[in-house]
Amino acid sequence: MIFEQSSIRTITLKNKIIRSADESGYPTDKLLMKYEVLAKNEVGCIITGYAGIMQNGKTNYNNMLMIHDDSFIDSYKRITQKIHEYQTPIIIQIAHCGRQTRSKTTGFPTVAPSAIKDKFFNEQTPKELSEAEIYEIIDNFVKAIDRAKKAGFDGVQLHLAHGYLLSEFLSSYTNKRKDNWGGSTKNKFRIISEILIKAKQKVGEFPILVKMNAHDGRKGGMTLTESIEIAKMLEMHGCAGIEVSCGVHEDGLYTSRGNKLPLDALFKYNYTYKNYPSIIKSIAKHLVPVFTKKIKPYENYNVDFAKEIKKNVKIPVIVVGGIKSIDSIISIISENKADFVSMCRPFIIEPNIVKKFKEGTQTKSKCINCNYCLIAMEEITLKCFHGKLN
Ligand SMILES: Cc1cc2nc3c(=O)[nH]c(=O)nc-3n(C[C@H](O)[C@H](O)[C@H](O)COP(=O)(O)O)c2cc1C
Repeated sequence: MIFEQSSIRTITLKNKIIRSADESGYPTDKLLMKYEVLAKNEVGCIITGYAGIMQNGKTNYNNMLMIHDDSFIDSYKRITQKIHEYQTPIIIQIAHCGRQTRSKTTGFPTVAPSAIKDKFFNEQTPKELSEAEIYEIIDNFVKAIDRAKKAGFDGVQLHLAHGYLLSEFLSSYTNKRKDNWGGSTKNKFRIISEILIKAKQKVGEFPILVKMNAHDGRKGGMTLTESIEIAKMLEMHGCAGIEVSCGVHEDGLYTSRGNKLPLDALFKYNYTYKNYPSIIKSIAKHLVPVFTKKIKPYENYNVDFAKEIKKNVKIPVIVVGGIKSIDSIISIISENKADFVSMCRPFIIEPNIVKKFKEGTQTKSKCINCNYCLIAMEEITLKCFHGKLN
């Protein structure tokens, strides 16, 4: 059941285990090799790390993929052609980072639905988007979808999760607009419906999936009741599938959970914290863990939410978040809580994890959720630290 071929619209997946997005760098030979290792090792489908649709929506992460002009089409074509040699589908995730970036990276002021400062990036208050700027963003999403199709991707995934721009529109925590783009769920969803309607006119039935938050843990933010409404709207607008996640950057460990704060990594790699005096760093290492509430559970934390969303739509539901073992995967799929599972960190430490599960040589990921990979990404190419900084 897990290792059988199945499909999402025109996309034939090798099995039900998907590589969820991670940051990967420019479409270079190195990236190609990384995806090739995943493809050779039986991954059901690859979802790339997010590719920026506009320069002012680029993330501060080292090597963020971009797809903001036509010159990218050919370099992505090399990737899709190679991965297709392994009969593995590949979907590109596209995003605008909204306020979750730094203007030193983008070269532009940060933008958001409303002028509310992000506490993690703590950089500057983002500029509230004008209606003309919203239409410019819609247009750029549609162009990026068209480029993805031309580059040979099997589909595209809109990033509506984790506090990036489209998720900022969906959540009342970040969207306080009083015009047509805020207030009711329908208004908050408008930017996404415009993208889906206009993209369909341009790319026809090319599969457009989304990754969305079922909830974001923010006061006044996204709740399951509203995310179910949004899932129904997505289905109505022809969305091909929904990957269910949670959280925003201000509380990154809500999305990628672990039982220990990655303070060492923050003090070494984070733009703000690395410059703290060493005395502050050593005091913080003792005190911060004591006063920080642990976000639990650490495993399978979006499954119950995905199950509720799945009850309300007919399109495929993918669930991500702390899925680590073949036993969990079997129970999620066989109990009909989701149609597919996706994993991110388990593939960083073991790109051949699906093969190991399939051959029965290993039943659980070796990932220890240290999250150093996530923090260090701001400065270096993605790698697994397995809890050791050096
Ligand atoms: C290093 C790293 C990079 C990530 N990059 C992305 C990304 O580009 N797009 C995205 O939607 N999620 C990204 N995520 C979140 C993961 O896709 C996933 O939702 C989250 O880590 C929970 O799944 P996991 O427990 O299988 O890691 C990233 C997570 C990590 C650890």
